[in-house]
Amino acid sequence: MRASQLPGPPPLLLLLLLRPDFTPAVSAAPFEPTWESLDARPLPEWFDQAKFGIFIHWGVFSVPSFGSEWFWWYWQNQKIPKYVNFMKDNYPPDFKYEDFGPLFTAKFFNVSQWADIFQASGAKYIVLTSKHHEGFTLWGSEYSWNWNAVDEGPKRDIVRELEVAIRSRTNLHFGLYYSLFEWFHPLFLEDKSGSFQKQKFPAAKMLPELYELVVKYQPEVLWSDGDGGAPDSYWNSTGFLAWLYNESPVRDTVVTNDRWGDRCICKHGGYYTCTDRYHPGHLLFHKWENCMTIDKFSWGYRRDAEITDYLTIEELVKQLVETVAYGGNLLMNVGPTLDGTISAIFEERLRQMGTWLKVNGEAIYKTHPWRFQNETFTPDVWYTSKPKEKLVYAIFLKWPISGQLVLAQPTAIPGETEVKLLGHAQPLFWTSLKPNGLMVQLPRLSIHQMPTRWGWALKLTNMM
Ligand SMILES: *[C@@H]1O[C@H](CO)[C@@H](O)[C@H](O)[C@H]1NC(C)=O
Ligand SMILES: *[C@@H]1O[C@H](CO)[C@@H](O)[C@H](O)[C@H]1NC(C)=O
Ligand SMILES: *[C@@H]1O[C@H](CO)[C@@H](O)[C@H](O)[C@H]1NC(C)=O
Repeated sequence: MRASQLPGPPPLLLLLLLRPDFTPAVSAAPFEPTWESLDARPLPEWFDQAKFGIFIHWGVFSVPSFGSEWFWWYWQNQKIPKYVNFMKDNYPPDFKYEDFGPLFTAKFFNVSQWADIFQASGAKYIVLTSKHHEGFTLWGSEYSWNWNAVDEGPKRDIVRELEVAIRSRTNLHFGLYYSLFEWFHPLFLEDKSGSFQKQKFPAAKMLPELYELVVKYQPEVLWSDGDGGAPDSYWNSTGFLAWLYNESPVRDTVVTNDRWGDRCICKHGGYYTCTDRYHPGHLLFHKWENCMTIDKFSWGYRRDAEITDYLTIEELVKQLVETVAYGGNLLMNVGPTLDGTISAIFEERLRQMGTWLKVNGEAIYKTHPWRFQNETFTPDVWYTSKPKEKLVYAIFLKWPISGQLVLAQPTAIPGETEVKLLGHAQPLFWTSLKPNGLMVQLPRLSIHQMPTRWGWALKLTNMM
């Protein structure tokens, strides 16, 4: 539940009562519209605990559903032959991208079904593209006349429907992606040709839309993207964020990313996304997120995808485990079809992730990075921890043929250390190694007895 909805004492007081470790800095001091002030805001706790979210790329680009969600740009700006020929072969010569709008029917869109699939995936938040670079808004934006999902295509307020379903059917946090720039918006192009000295586009379109989006739908993740090469001063990003953190209805719980203007990325804002599919390869001390997509080559749905283009569940579990061990969150993307369905392959991956997390979620959610992030002796072993409970988790992605798993990093204490396999009742036998480490005897299980199929977690209690 969002704090702002609670009856009774004001949210801050309530949080203080419920959470002894709460630092009152969040709402006590109003934030200034400077990066120095905004960057010092502590990230609301829920986000780091969540670890896993679902990204949803849906829009008019889902109509051609060919190549990439960058279809319009590749076709008309870059004139890439693959896209030009696709249009030549399949559509009349005067067909415009805007003509895809009415074809975006969402005919089989059942938002309850979406919510149930996301819940089953084990994710703790979702992020929907409320508007991608094409400018089409999935809500009835007052600033996107005839280029929004209420006036055209689905004739439904997609953002509202998903918000209501997520908040009523699931315990997930609701988040929205929003592209600052638009490829072909005349005001943006005008500002750009004047080297962003004037702010016609932010004043008339982007800022009013962002305020509208936050007030109407109260997203708890605001995932900004697409600075269009313009600095944050052009987008008025710090002014907007100061309002978001000080006054907006989600001021206590909202998290934002780092894409708020040219050169902000990986430097300013809330958590870092740095690049798409970001993978630092080491522990980061600033919260970060690895946004990636199950289809290796596109964020939007592609009818031309082949089976090998999709990451396997083994690869996805590995992504999640590595990301969490390095202190990140995984934001895993699916692209729904123009009909509003989530294709069977995406649904299967989501549900597989959920079955894995049902057993191993204890080693993922609410964990902290450990002293070591991975095992040096045995490959493909990743560590997480819960320091307050004196717990270390060793997640291993290959079941050793010998049935013995060597962990060189932890130091066991005879008589105190306990080793368990998540999803398996009996504690495991282990022996200390010199000078440090331990060898764990895994149980002999048939494939049907395995608690999960794509990775397993050892729970180590009372280690050093
Ligand atoms: C929508 O999905 C829900 C949940 O799966 C289901 O109970 C309901 O019957 C579906 N509605 C329609 C119209 O198919
Ligand atoms: C942008 O910020 C400036 C200075 O902070 C302010 O004067 C202006 O009104 C803002 N523009 C919009 C459209 O909010
Ligand atoms: C595991 O950690 C070691 C050093 O601690 C590093 O050299 C190695 O590359 C890591 N393995 C992976 C798969 O990242």
